Amino acid sequence: MREQDMEGRVCLVTGATSGHGRALARRLAERGAEVVLLGRDLGRCRETQREIDRAAGREPRVLLCDLASRAAIDRAAGEFRSWETPLHVLVLNAGLVSRDRKESPDGTELTMAVNYLAAFQITMRLLPCLLRQPPARIVIVASDAHRVGRLDFDDLDVRRRYWFWKAYAQSKLALVHFNRALARRLDGTGVTVNACDPGPIASRIADREPGLTAALASRLLPLVFPAPEKAARTALHLATDPLFDRQTGSYWRFGRRRLPSLGRDPDETERRLWAWSVERTGVDGPGPG
Ligand SMILES: NC(=O)c1ccc[n+]([C@@H]2O[C@H](COP(=O)([O-])OP(=O)(O)OC[C@H]3O[C@@H](n4cnc5c(N)ncnc54)[C@H](OP(=O)(O)O)[C@@H]3O)[C@@H](O)[C@H]2O)c1
Repeated sequence: MREQDMEGRVCLVTGATSGHGRALARRLAERGAEVVLLGRDLGRCRETQREIDRAAGREPRVLLCDLASRAAIDRAAGEFRSWETPLHVLVLNAGLVSRDRKESPDGTELTMAVNYLAAFQITMRLLPCLLRQPPARIVIVASDAHRVGRLDFDDLDVRRRYWFWKAYAQSKLALVHFNRALARRLDGTGVTVNACDPGPIASRIADREPGLTAALASRLLPLVFPAPEKAARTALHLATDPLFDRQTGSYWRFGRRRLPSLGRDPDETERRLWAWSVERTGVDGPGPG
């Protein structure tokens, strides 16, 4: 695994205020990157900013955004574009699980809205910045949970028989299809896109939902699951290795390339998922390629 010097490279990390995203943002800053922390809570963003400043000797910028909201994503992307800086690495890391079925302010099931649709929308909105100074890359933090996921186009909002794992696995499967579709659409532009599963992480993801894993999450997980710093190695590899200036559309786990599970007719699934995403977000991207 080679990691290039990130001096002068602008890296935006979503979900940078906790767990995997926070550890990754810190590692990128320690390698010299100009990091942008995207988070929804100013207090947590400032706290992360101070921690990274202390560790890396450089203060990341903050971009406030609630990824559940279409309007907030458009505003945040507009703010980033107004900085008139290129974007070299976009890490789509933010994610959640929700014990009960909830909806975003725009009426999409919340897991699908934050884990997948927000990633789609912010990527489309920031594409001009990624294309400004290639090579640039997109890193998608997916999960092997996608292997048990199913995209039910009659019920992407999971109204029938909601279960947190069903919603989570579906959102991660959507991300893995997005990885493949976007890589093809961006082929030849100098912008690559690759996805990874960081493996299990001793993070707060399950701890945020009362009753989801209760005391187990906070007390036992740190004993058996790797710390975010260790888990972030695979995404760091995708964000920094010069290999990914060329390699595109691949899926990685524990530092190794794997074949994702894309189901029986991935082309048709991608076509339908892309159309649904455009309809829900109101943005479209590069043509089918
Ligand atoms: N934990 C695991 O075992 C595991 C395994 C495989 C893949 N992953 C994936 O790794 C990624 C990071 O997860 P993690 O374990 O580090 O979880 P985490 O500690 O809960 O961090 C999740 C991050 O996403 C942010 N986020 C959630 N909803 C948001 C919203 N509406 N708007 C803006 N930001 C929002 C959180 O912000 P706040 O701080 O404001 O809440 C936080 O910064 C996720 O995509 C997850 O699916 C995790």
